[in-house]
Amino acid sequence: MKNIKGIILAGGKATRLKPITNVISKQLLPIYDKPMIYYPVSTLMQAGIKEILIITNEENIENFYNLLKDGHQWGIHIEYAIQKEPNGLAEAYLIAENFINGYPTALILGDNLFHGDKLHEIIESKKNLQSGATIFAYEVKDPKRYGVVNFDKEGLVLDIEEKPNHPKSNFAMTGLYICDETVLEKAKKVTFSSRGELEITDVINMYIQEKSLNVEFLGRGNTWLDTGTYDSLHDASTYIRTLENRQGIKVGCPEEIAWRKKWITDENLNLLAKQYDKSGYGEYLLNIM
Ligand code: DAU
Repeated sequence: MKNIKGIILAGGKATRLKPITNVISKQLLPIYDKPMIYYPVSTLMQAGIKEILIITNEENIENFYNLLKDGHQWGIHIEYAIQKEPNGLAEAYLIAENFINGYPTALILGDNLFHGDKLHEIIESKKNLQSGATIFAYEVKDPKRYGVVNFDKEGLVLDIEEKPNHPKSNFAMTGLYICDETVLEKAKKVTFSSRGELEITDVINMYIQEKSLNVEFLGRGNTWLDTGTYDSLHDASTYIRTLENRQGIKVGCPEEIAWRKKWITDENLNLLAKQYDKSGYGEYLLNIM
């Protein structure tokens, strides 16, 4: 049995967010009170994943390193790799070949924000994953923007269609993919699509053909937001602000997760909190102790 390793894809061009993203990577932009990348990092940490590879472009790698370091401050291990061109999501596996090294992986997109109780339990339950893949489907109003899950009459998954003009269901494939180690050989078989990308949907469709894909439906108790446009970025910030102010707890707070999981000590948390002294963030960390 092997632990799952985490991969976060945090490159791309973010063309729909220009000019904001001319000088800063989209995944470093704030979602309310913390950088966007904290959320996928937190999702992986909550699921007990301690080894993480961050893939980004050459221009931004230093910024990511300055922010997240090697992860030891949160009791985890973070490595970095460069994607030279945004050639598509499936390329993440090719870049991560040495990191994967025969382990199952959870690939998460750096701009996807998950919130809910069930998710990390599901990921954790896949720790003993022997074979196959798991994706997470979420009902949306505008499926055209996503990979869409097609079902037959019995509810069996037929295939995933990337951004179809005429979606056959309202279930989007979210940006979190748990795959066994065969994902690498599958990704190597993918060829460029008509839109010029190595599509993750092609990889997932290979699992469907092998009858080894499991689809988990994220129901009402879960939230999935993506942050590709000005409006969705703003909406995500508003959502987090409302939730945090109402409940007095933080979403996507790696320091807190590390402390609650006992990956860092009280003393470590105290030091981390002091760095954020005057922002409410540091005060929050001190209060949870
Ligand atoms: O958000 C979920 C959707 O993500 C899925 O439903 C789709 O099946 C999947 O293709 C993807 O669609 P998007 O249109 O959202 O992908 P986008 O090109 O916006 O890239 C998603 C993130 O990955 C974004 O933060 C940029 C980053 N990225 C993207 C590409 C293509 C990279 O780092 N490298 C890349 O080569």
